[in-house]
Amino acid sequence: MTFTFVTAGESHGPSLTIIVTGMPAGVMLDRDRINRDLARRQHGYGRGGRMKIEHDTIEITGGVRGGETLGSPIAMTIRNADYENWRGAMDVWSVDEAEAKKRRVHAPRPGHVDLIGGMKYNRRDLRDVLERASARETAARVAAGAIAKELLRAFGVEIRSGVISLGDAGDPEYSPTWDELTAVSDDSPFRAVRSSDEAQMTAAVDAARESGDTLGGTIVVAAHGAPVGLGSYVQWNEKLDGRIAQAILSIHAVKGIAIGDGIAGARRSGTEVHDAIYHSASRGYYRESNRAGGLEGGVTNGEDLVVRAFMKPISTTRRGVASVDIETREPHRSQWERSDITAVPACGVVCEAMIAVVLAGAMREKFGGDSLGEMSANHKAYSRGLDAY
Ligand SMILES: Cc1cc2nc3c(=O)[nH]c(=O)nc-3n(C[C@H](O)[C@H](O)[C@H](O)COP(=O)(O)O)c2cc1C
Repeated sequence: MTFTFVTAGESHGPSLTIIVTGMPAGVMLDRDRINRDLARRQHGYGRGGRMKIEHDTIEITGGVRGGETLGSPIAMTIRNADYENWRGAMDVWSVDEAEAKKRRVHAPRPGHVDLIGGMKYNRRDLRDVLERASARETAARVAAGAIAKELLRAFGVEIRSGVISLGDAGDPEYSPTWDELTAVSDDSPFRAVRSSDEAQMTAAVDAARESGDTLGGTIVVAAHGAPVGLGSYVQWNEKLDGRIAQAILSIHAVKGIAIGDGIAGARRSGTEVHDAIYHSASRGYYRESNRAGGLEGGVTNGEDLVVRAFMKPISTTRRGVASVDIETREPHRSQWERSDITAVPACGVVCEAMIAVVLAGAMREKFGGDSLGEMSANHKAYSRGLDAY
């Protein structure tokens, strides 16, 4: 079985629920590490007031005994502390009409799915749409990704991310090394790869706040230590680049992805772009550059897997955008409610989670097994074969 997850829960409902399947038995989980990832997602300059209310932690209710995975589905919840402020409007069984009216959304935000979700699911209060479409769901993804990271860690695979541009500050084409990514501080307000960009990023967010606007940016996420041969070129849906693209583009507000230097490479010649192959007795096959981002033909080549994610500006703007009131069908500025000005630093943590989930799935396909021991034995045998190649 491959590694995957499903989530449920509304942004201001009682909690988020996550079920992870495909985790082998025998992996010792580190609760603090999982909670640390949840906390990393909550940080960042430019976040709205919600993150001051929430202190996300995981509660595991299935699939784990004594900290060790059992091979069964892992069930988790993250409580929404803000639910206490929304109980009247969001209670599962009985909604207070006056509270619900106060929270009613009738002027859809362009760039969010408010209008289209209302039309598609026939909801007249657009809150019914935005509660699930909200990026609060990314906390659940980070929890699933943290479980995936625990599995990858057992095979020496690590994942890191950093912000390379925000608004017009920084450089979306900057290619950080692995060492630069590991040096990104979670205490930094932007999780910026180059701390020299931070002053400009702060100024950009302050200006956006001042003018009632929002900003997007660019993230680099990389995986180090992934074995050669994950994914396959033999069928379209086995190619790892396509699977990574689906996972990354499914993240709220991420509108573009590049594998390695993919976008910059489109303007260069082949001999400038492709990473020359070398061999030495001590290193085996290796490259001196990694513009391909660790993937050739949709298969990992042993170099760092490097992905660039491009996030659009947040669509809830204090200034509003021209829209229509769905009750009167008259022009109405899009409604504003407490919201982030930018969430690019947090989005990097979500990108890490989604890369972890895809890689954990690819590792499960390649090495199989029901327990970590069985999977590790298969991994060792394969690695011996690679060494002899
Ligand atoms: C970590 C994170 C936080 C976000 N916070 C907000 C927010 O506070 N307000 C908002 O309107 N959109 C926010 N978004 C983006 C929206 O959820 C997203 O634009 C919306 O669901 C529509 O989906 P789409 O942009 O992928 O088409 C956030 C996205 C991420 C990844």
